[in-house]
Amino acid sequence: MSEALRVGIAGLGTVGASVARVLAEKADELTRQCGRAITVTAVSARDRTRDRGVDLSGVQWFDDPVALAREADIDVFVELMGGEDGPAKASVQAALERGKHVVTANKALLSRSGVSLAAIAEKNGVLLNYEAAVAGGIPVIKTMRESLAGNSVSRVFGILNGTCNYILTRMEAEGISFEECLADAQRLGYAEADPTFDIEGNDTAHKLSILTSLAFGTKISPDDIYLEGISNITQADIKAAAELGYRIKLLGVAQRSESGIEQRVHPTMVPTSSVIAQVHGVTNAVAIETDILGELLLSGPGAGGNATASAVIGDIADIAKSRPGFQHGPVFGRPAKELAPYKKAAMRKHEGGYFIRLTVHDRTGVFAAIAKRMAENDISLESIVQRAADPQIGDHKTVILVTHSTSEASIRKAVEAITKDGHLVDKPQVIRIERPA
Ligand code: HSE
Repeated sequence: MSEALRVGIAGLGTVGASVARVLAEKADELTRQCGRAITVTAVSARDRTRDRGVDLSGVQWFDDPVALAREADIDVFVELMGGEDGPAKASVQAALERGKHVVTANKALLSRSGVSLAAIAEKNGVLLNYEAAVAGGIPVIKTMRESLAGNSVSRVFGILNGTCNYILTRMEAEGISFEECLADAQRLGYAEADPTFDIEGNDTAHKLSILTSLAFGTKISPDDIYLEGISNITQADIKAAAELGYRIKLLGVAQRSESGIEQRVHPTMVPTSSVIAQVHGVTNAVAIETDILGELLLSGPGAGGNATASAVIGDIADIAKSRPGFQHGPVFGRPAKELAPYKKAAMRKHEGGYFIRLTVHDRTGVFAAIAKRMAENDISLESIVQRAADPQIGDHKTVILVTHSTSEASIRKAVEAITKDGHLVDKPQVIRIERPA
């Protein structure tokens, strides 16, 4: 049998501890599968004393992850610290430059520096594996990188943040507050160290930017993503969506349009009857639409120690199974130097359906004035309904509109005009509608 694969892990938080534990518990099984043992020989973490449910006594400790990457006698450097810069970037770069394979779950790092790190990995003939960076345990990177060769992707979209999906699911099912759901997501280990990254959509954006590169063969462009989080979604939106046959999900969407590639992250109405609407709780889902395959939908556990560890261990096992002389495939499906420049499509040109919820003064002519503004902007309505608003907030009415496909520019102009007309008593709520193929 070949020599053991020596692994160094930087970061022993929820995911890192799960990886170390599973590697120990499944050591025999992994050895049989890979034809060699996988041994953790070095680690780096802030607290040496914490009980992580695994015996790390024979393992070399480093206070500095960059020193671990540079100096430890390892074959694979596993980066599970997080952060788009700082020690995570420095240590991954150091490991790749020294010809060590890298496995990371760090979507922020890849989103910002993935292409330059891929170039170093490819130059040095080592692997940079990152299955755990997108959609937790779902093997979406492998699928897009390896299994869709020859397919032209037209759209990729999905539920890419477990915390947000968990919050929206419980808000709808139990009618409980946003804050209570978020606290539970943090307690269960789903949320980022700074949970605003989850709820304001940044985490989804990081993951989407990676999927965009894999889907369209372009450089990663995280600053070109239109971004809205879920912090202003209310029970009123969730209930109105349900009445109209929709459910609200935080989606990341990348699609080709006439003017370039659209990347957007925002709360989205999806038809309740669609498969993606049935994806509940911490589960993630990714839909990929291509010319040859049609629509592929992958779903599974999107966050949490074990789900993420499963993807990390799959990546380590792939390295254990690879042999010297084997040419590793490119990190983003095609060589880093051949990734095309990203061409951004303007958000104002986005075409789709819209849900608009307006809280208005209860007086004659308001309903007609709203309909007029829509017509002036060539917006065709699928439905318009008026409801009594919450009596506790005064003598108001709620008007809910669902549009047929129209442009973002038209919607913005119409809503601006309605706001200027002086009929609104609250900020208008606009939520885009996405229809799966
Ligand atoms: N905070 C992330 C989520 C963890 O909730 O999905 C997985 O990337």
